[in-house]
Amino acid sequence: MGGVRFGVIGCGTISTLAYLPAIKGEYAGYPLELVAVCDAVEEKAVSAAKRFGARRHYARYEDLLADPEVDAVIVATNIATHAELGLAAVRAGKHVLIQKPIAETLEEADRIIEEARRRGVKLQVEPPHMLNPFCVRSRELISSGALGQVCLVQASSSHAGAEDRPWLFQRAGGGSVMLDLAVHALTWLTGLLGPVAQVTAMATTSVPERVINGEPVKVDIEDNVTILLRFRDGCLGTVVSNYVTIANKAPTINIYGTDGTIHLESGMSPFLLFSRKGKYLEHDGWLEPTVYAGHLARPLTVQRATPSGELPPHNSVAHFVECIVEDKQPVPSGEFARHVLEIMLAAMESARSGRTIELQTSF
Ligand SMILES: NC(=O)c1ccc[n+]([C@@H]2O[C@H](COP(=O)([O-])OP(=O)(O)OC[C@H]3O[C@@H](n4cnc5c(N)ncnc54)[C@H](O)[C@@H]3O)[C@@H](O)[C@H]2O)c1
Repeated sequence: MGGVRFGVIGCGTISTLAYLPAIKGEYAGYPLELVAVCDAVEEKAVSAAKRFGARRHYARYEDLLADPEVDAVIVATNIATHAELGLAAVRAGKHVLIQKPIAETLEEADRIIEEARRRGVKLQVEPPHMLNPFCVRSRELISSGALGQVCLVQASSSHAGAEDRPWLFQRAGGGSVMLDLAVHALTWLTGLLGPVAQVTAMATTSVPERVINGEPVKVDIEDNVTILLRFRDGCLGTVVSNYVTIANKAPTINIYGTDGTIHLESGMSPFLLFSRKGKYLEHDGWLEPTVYAGHLARPLTVQRATPSGELPPHNSVAHFVECIVEDKQPVPSGEFARHVLEIMLAAMESARSGRTIELQTSF
């Protein structure tokens, strides 16, 4: 195959911000073509086709999946539709990139993974944090022993809640702060440390009514969750995720080892590494201001990526294209997404029952 011919299902916020602009020109010499777009609200499909140069538009996803010129499909619709559309797309023999979460139940996720395997098509699931260069670098530092024994990780993924999409706050549309936002923090932490063994959580609805598109909307989902994790290797973790954070200056990911700490701000900006031993300065583009931790009465080394040491942005569409054309398995795989889904479902069960839940899946 010389390139990839795309069909995009769902022409809403994330498609118009991220996917549709990304499908043009070429990637690494492989031509990309936007063959078709689809939205259940036909005017959105018409307008996206015009704006982003798709050759065809559809209102029914079945018609896009029947289009023989579409090789690869991006499913970027409301959460409640991911399982149905994802399964239909792999059944149609298309390579599929699904927005997070892969599905709402493990059985649905299993069916999509199994069908993709049987048909020999690529299955990639958002978010792509394992491809983030800062995630890759942090994983290298963890496995090289630079941080000593990693004992605790913390991550938060929160914002104030969108003011234009009512389905985000309603169970019937697939709304769930767990499936929509905690998925980011959990993907980061499992991407860094591997599978989780046990989950405990609390959840609440902090804001029971919101104004969306100028109208009052009853919130019937939990909008504020706190999750405790025990990883298979014994490391503990905490995740905070909510729609009640107006602003946040704290680092979003913290990794605490016996010899060092990494702070990552939103996983997109240069990170800080505090090393007790100060012996990891060989990384290109890092500098060494020294700070003193009074209570330890010994110097710590701070490493900070300089502008020249900044790493290139990651791009999930580029990775998807590379996997299709070069016949590689996507790193953000279906199995990985299923494990993250199991953590989220276990967290919801724990919040309901007050029990700690043991996990079964891995990746
Ligand atoms: N908006 C963001 O910033 C953001 C960021 C990351 C991920 N996401 C994820 O992307 C997905 C979509 O979110 P969004 O914010 O773009 O939502 P959105 O409501 O803006 O867009 C979803 C679109 O899908 C269409 N749609 C729904 N069911 C359909 C069906 N059966 N067939 C065809 N079209 C259908 C809707 O009409 C709508 O236009 C969700 O999984 C969300 O979690 C969103």
